[in-house]
Amino acid sequence: MPMKIAVVGTGYVGLTTCVGLADFGNHVVGVDIDREKVARLSAGDPVIYEAGLEYYLRENLAAGRLSFTTSMKEALRDAEVVFLAVGTPEKENGEADLSQIEAVLEELAPLIDHYLVVVTKSTVPVGTNRWIHEELSRMVDPRLFDVVSNPEFLREGKAIQDFFHPNRVVIGYENERVKEVMHEIYRPLYLIETPFVWCSWETAELIKYAANAFLATKISFINQVANLAEEVGADVHVIAKAMGMDGRISPKFLHPGPGFGGSCFPKDTKALVKIGERYGVDLSLVREVIRANEAQRMRMVEKAKRLLGGSLEGRRIAVLGLAFKAETDDVRETPAYPIIRAMLEEGAVVCAHDPLAMENFRRLVPSIEYAENEYEAARGADLVLICTEWNEYRNLDLERVAELMRERKILDTRNVLDPERARKTGFVYEGVGRILFRGKQ
Ligand code: UDX
Repeated sequence: MPMKIAVVGTGYVGLTTCVGLADFGNHVVGVDIDREKVARLSAGDPVIYEAGLEYYLRENLAAGRLSFTTSMKEALRDAEVVFLAVGTPEKENGEADLSQIEAVLEELAPLIDHYLVVVTKSTVPVGTNRWIHEELSRMVDPRLFDVVSNPEFLREGKAIQDFFHPNRVVIGYENERVKEVMHEIYRPLYLIETPFVWCSWETAELIKYAANAFLATKISFINQVANLAEEVGADVHVIAKAMGMDGRISPKFLHPGPGFGGSCFPKDTKALVKIGERYGVDLSLVREVIRANEAQRMRMVEKAKRLLGGSLEGRRIAVLGLAFKAETDDVRETPAYPIIRAMLEEGAVVCAHDPLAMENFRRLVPSIEYAENEYEAARGADLVLICTEWNEYRNLDLERVAELMRERKILDTRNVLDPERARKTGFVYEGVGRILFRGKQ
């Protein structure tokens, strides 16, 4: 039986949830306070770039299973389930800011006049779902609703694929009654034998933080090993590959680079440290992961400096890649930002390119030059610094780049180029976790 579902918040998570649940055959209404966004979504414009999103948005709008509104009242009219997917950004002190959830609860409570399952999709600190239950109970008869914690594990760029083929679905609950509803919503996932983890609210909340912090730890770990590999003359890729052959380690997330970014890892690791502080539990390991990540970014600036003879003053640097990873236009917590800021402070002139994220990055840093393509960026540059692993940078025409540059130097912070080829083309090349540039090559 298709269900009637409201999804509050149409950001990455909310919108993917909307189109995914509608595609499962449910009737879904997405709610957002942003009038312009609602208009664009209703017209089939996904607003953000996400592979496959536009197709599923249009298909489900056309099938009449999906609609968008600014009115919570309209969305809630016959809804059996409401997903909360509003933002939980980072506060100044690193804690998660729950004010958007609070505002939604205030608006939602007076509208609950029939049994409703309230599902939290947003990443929220441990204790939040219990608090949501308490807050709502102050305003509504507790027999009229249940609260479920259903954290998302979507990767940007693969959000649609991850929605339809998750490696697990985590459901934190208290009342057995929700099981039937959640089963019904995710029925298609049962058919493909997706594992379901049924647990308490607190367990579900902590699974999300622990999973993200663990992945971030793997990245900071391999980055530090990469730094050591550079010093001792070892190759981090061979190390990561051999480490990954041990099934207990797994080869995934052992790719070195300029440090992790994005909307989840930086925010969630900081929030986890705060949760630990609140409960008096030592999470120094996670704190160190954050510190190592910041240091990794600055190490890239130091590498650039060394490659250019010790100073960036007046040097022209082509930064290729501004998004926090490939296949997205998202620049939240992107390593390119602190790296470019630091280089500008050291007197460098930066000309940047990104296939998708230039518009977003321009809002963060309007004062640098932006080039139409990677070759224009490289024109007259002393150094090409690759910051995002876009495929088009893997296939750079190095001869053409070499002709355009003032000095032939490449800092490849994602190891997307073949060092041998780059050197044969006459470049001084440096990656991460491989041979270090020591003044001559
Ligand atoms: C992540 C989680 O994967 C997802 O489960 C969660 O729900 C949200 O956060 P996402 O932020 O989209 O997803 O990006 P992801 O592909 O995981 O990469 C995060 C960051 O780590 C990127 O900056 C990426 O470049 C970096 N990274 C990833 C590495 O530096 N090395 C790696 O081996 C893997």
